[in-house]
Amino acid sequence: MLLKTDARAQAWVDAFSMAMPELEVRLWPETGDRSEINCALLWGPPPELFDQLDNLEVIFSIGAGVDSLLACPNLPAHLPIVRMVESELTAGMVEFCLFHILRFHRLMHLFENHRVRRHWEELTQVSASEVTVGIMGFGVLGQALARQLSALRYRVIGYRRGPGEVEGMEVFYGTNQLEEFMGRSDILVALMPSTLETKKMINSRTLSWLPSGAYFINAGRGDLVDEEGLVEALDHGSLAGAALDVFETEPLPQESILWAHPNVYITPHIASITHPPTACRYIADAISRHRQGEPWPHLVETGRGY
Ligand code: GLV
Repeated sequence: MLLKTDARAQAWVDAFSMAMPELEVRLWPETGDRSEINCALLWGPPPELFDQLDNLEVIFSIGAGVDSLLACPNLPAHLPIVRMVESELTAGMVEFCLFHILRFHRLMHLFENHRVRRHWEELTQVSASEVTVGIMGFGVLGQALARQLSALRYRVIGYRRGPGEVEGMEVFYGTNQLEEFMGRSDILVALMPSTLETKKMINSRTLSWLPSGAYFINAGRGDLVDEEGLVEALDHGSLAGAALDVFETEPLPQESILWAHPNVYITPHIASITHPPTACRYIADAISRHRQGEPWPHLVETGRGY
């Protein structure tokens, strides 16, 4: 196993020694004989990495999103890529979205502004059962969020790229159902991967389909959003607030108008982060099942981009 990661390299090495003690872990670039490496765990690999790993059999992505991996020009086309699906990453994403959904639904952003002005006013609140949350990107993360929201009595609808039933959920798909989906979403949560099709899918035209005074939460990828269109919708008040964890350019440039926009909450791409102990258990399980002839789990389809 080869690991190309960040400052958390030691945490990964420790987690692998717990989850799969027999696995030899080497850190890029100090790999020793590179022909001995057959699995790689990667995030933002240096382009030359793939030219030097002739016996690689599988790539595990450190992140849930694989856009940075797929953008790598010399990624070998034949290699299976396994997406990261682990319980802590899912839980973190659910927490992040719930936090902002509850804030907007319970008008905490308005009460925060009132507090600054020492203004006492009881605002009318609506019940969760009257609020529809639209989740764009209805895979593992979106469905986990949907289950928690349903337990809190929110109405939940999902949107995905292609058809596919999700038990107990109303699911929209394809571009011709996007308008109807957005038209029903009082709070729109985007958990979409970055693909050619999703770029700038949220723009002034699609934002105009939201109910007036809707809220938008983006915890997927920044290139889903045309930020100019988003600012316009916020300025006109058609969008009442936004919580953004991802941006067209990261770090968000100092001069971005979003930093100072009222009712916009900004976080630096921290909605959820892969947790090495649970991630290593997932990888160890995938490797041992694969050795028994089972297919790799959560395989990326490079053609569709996730
Ligand atoms: C983070 O952005 C991830 O893809 O996990």
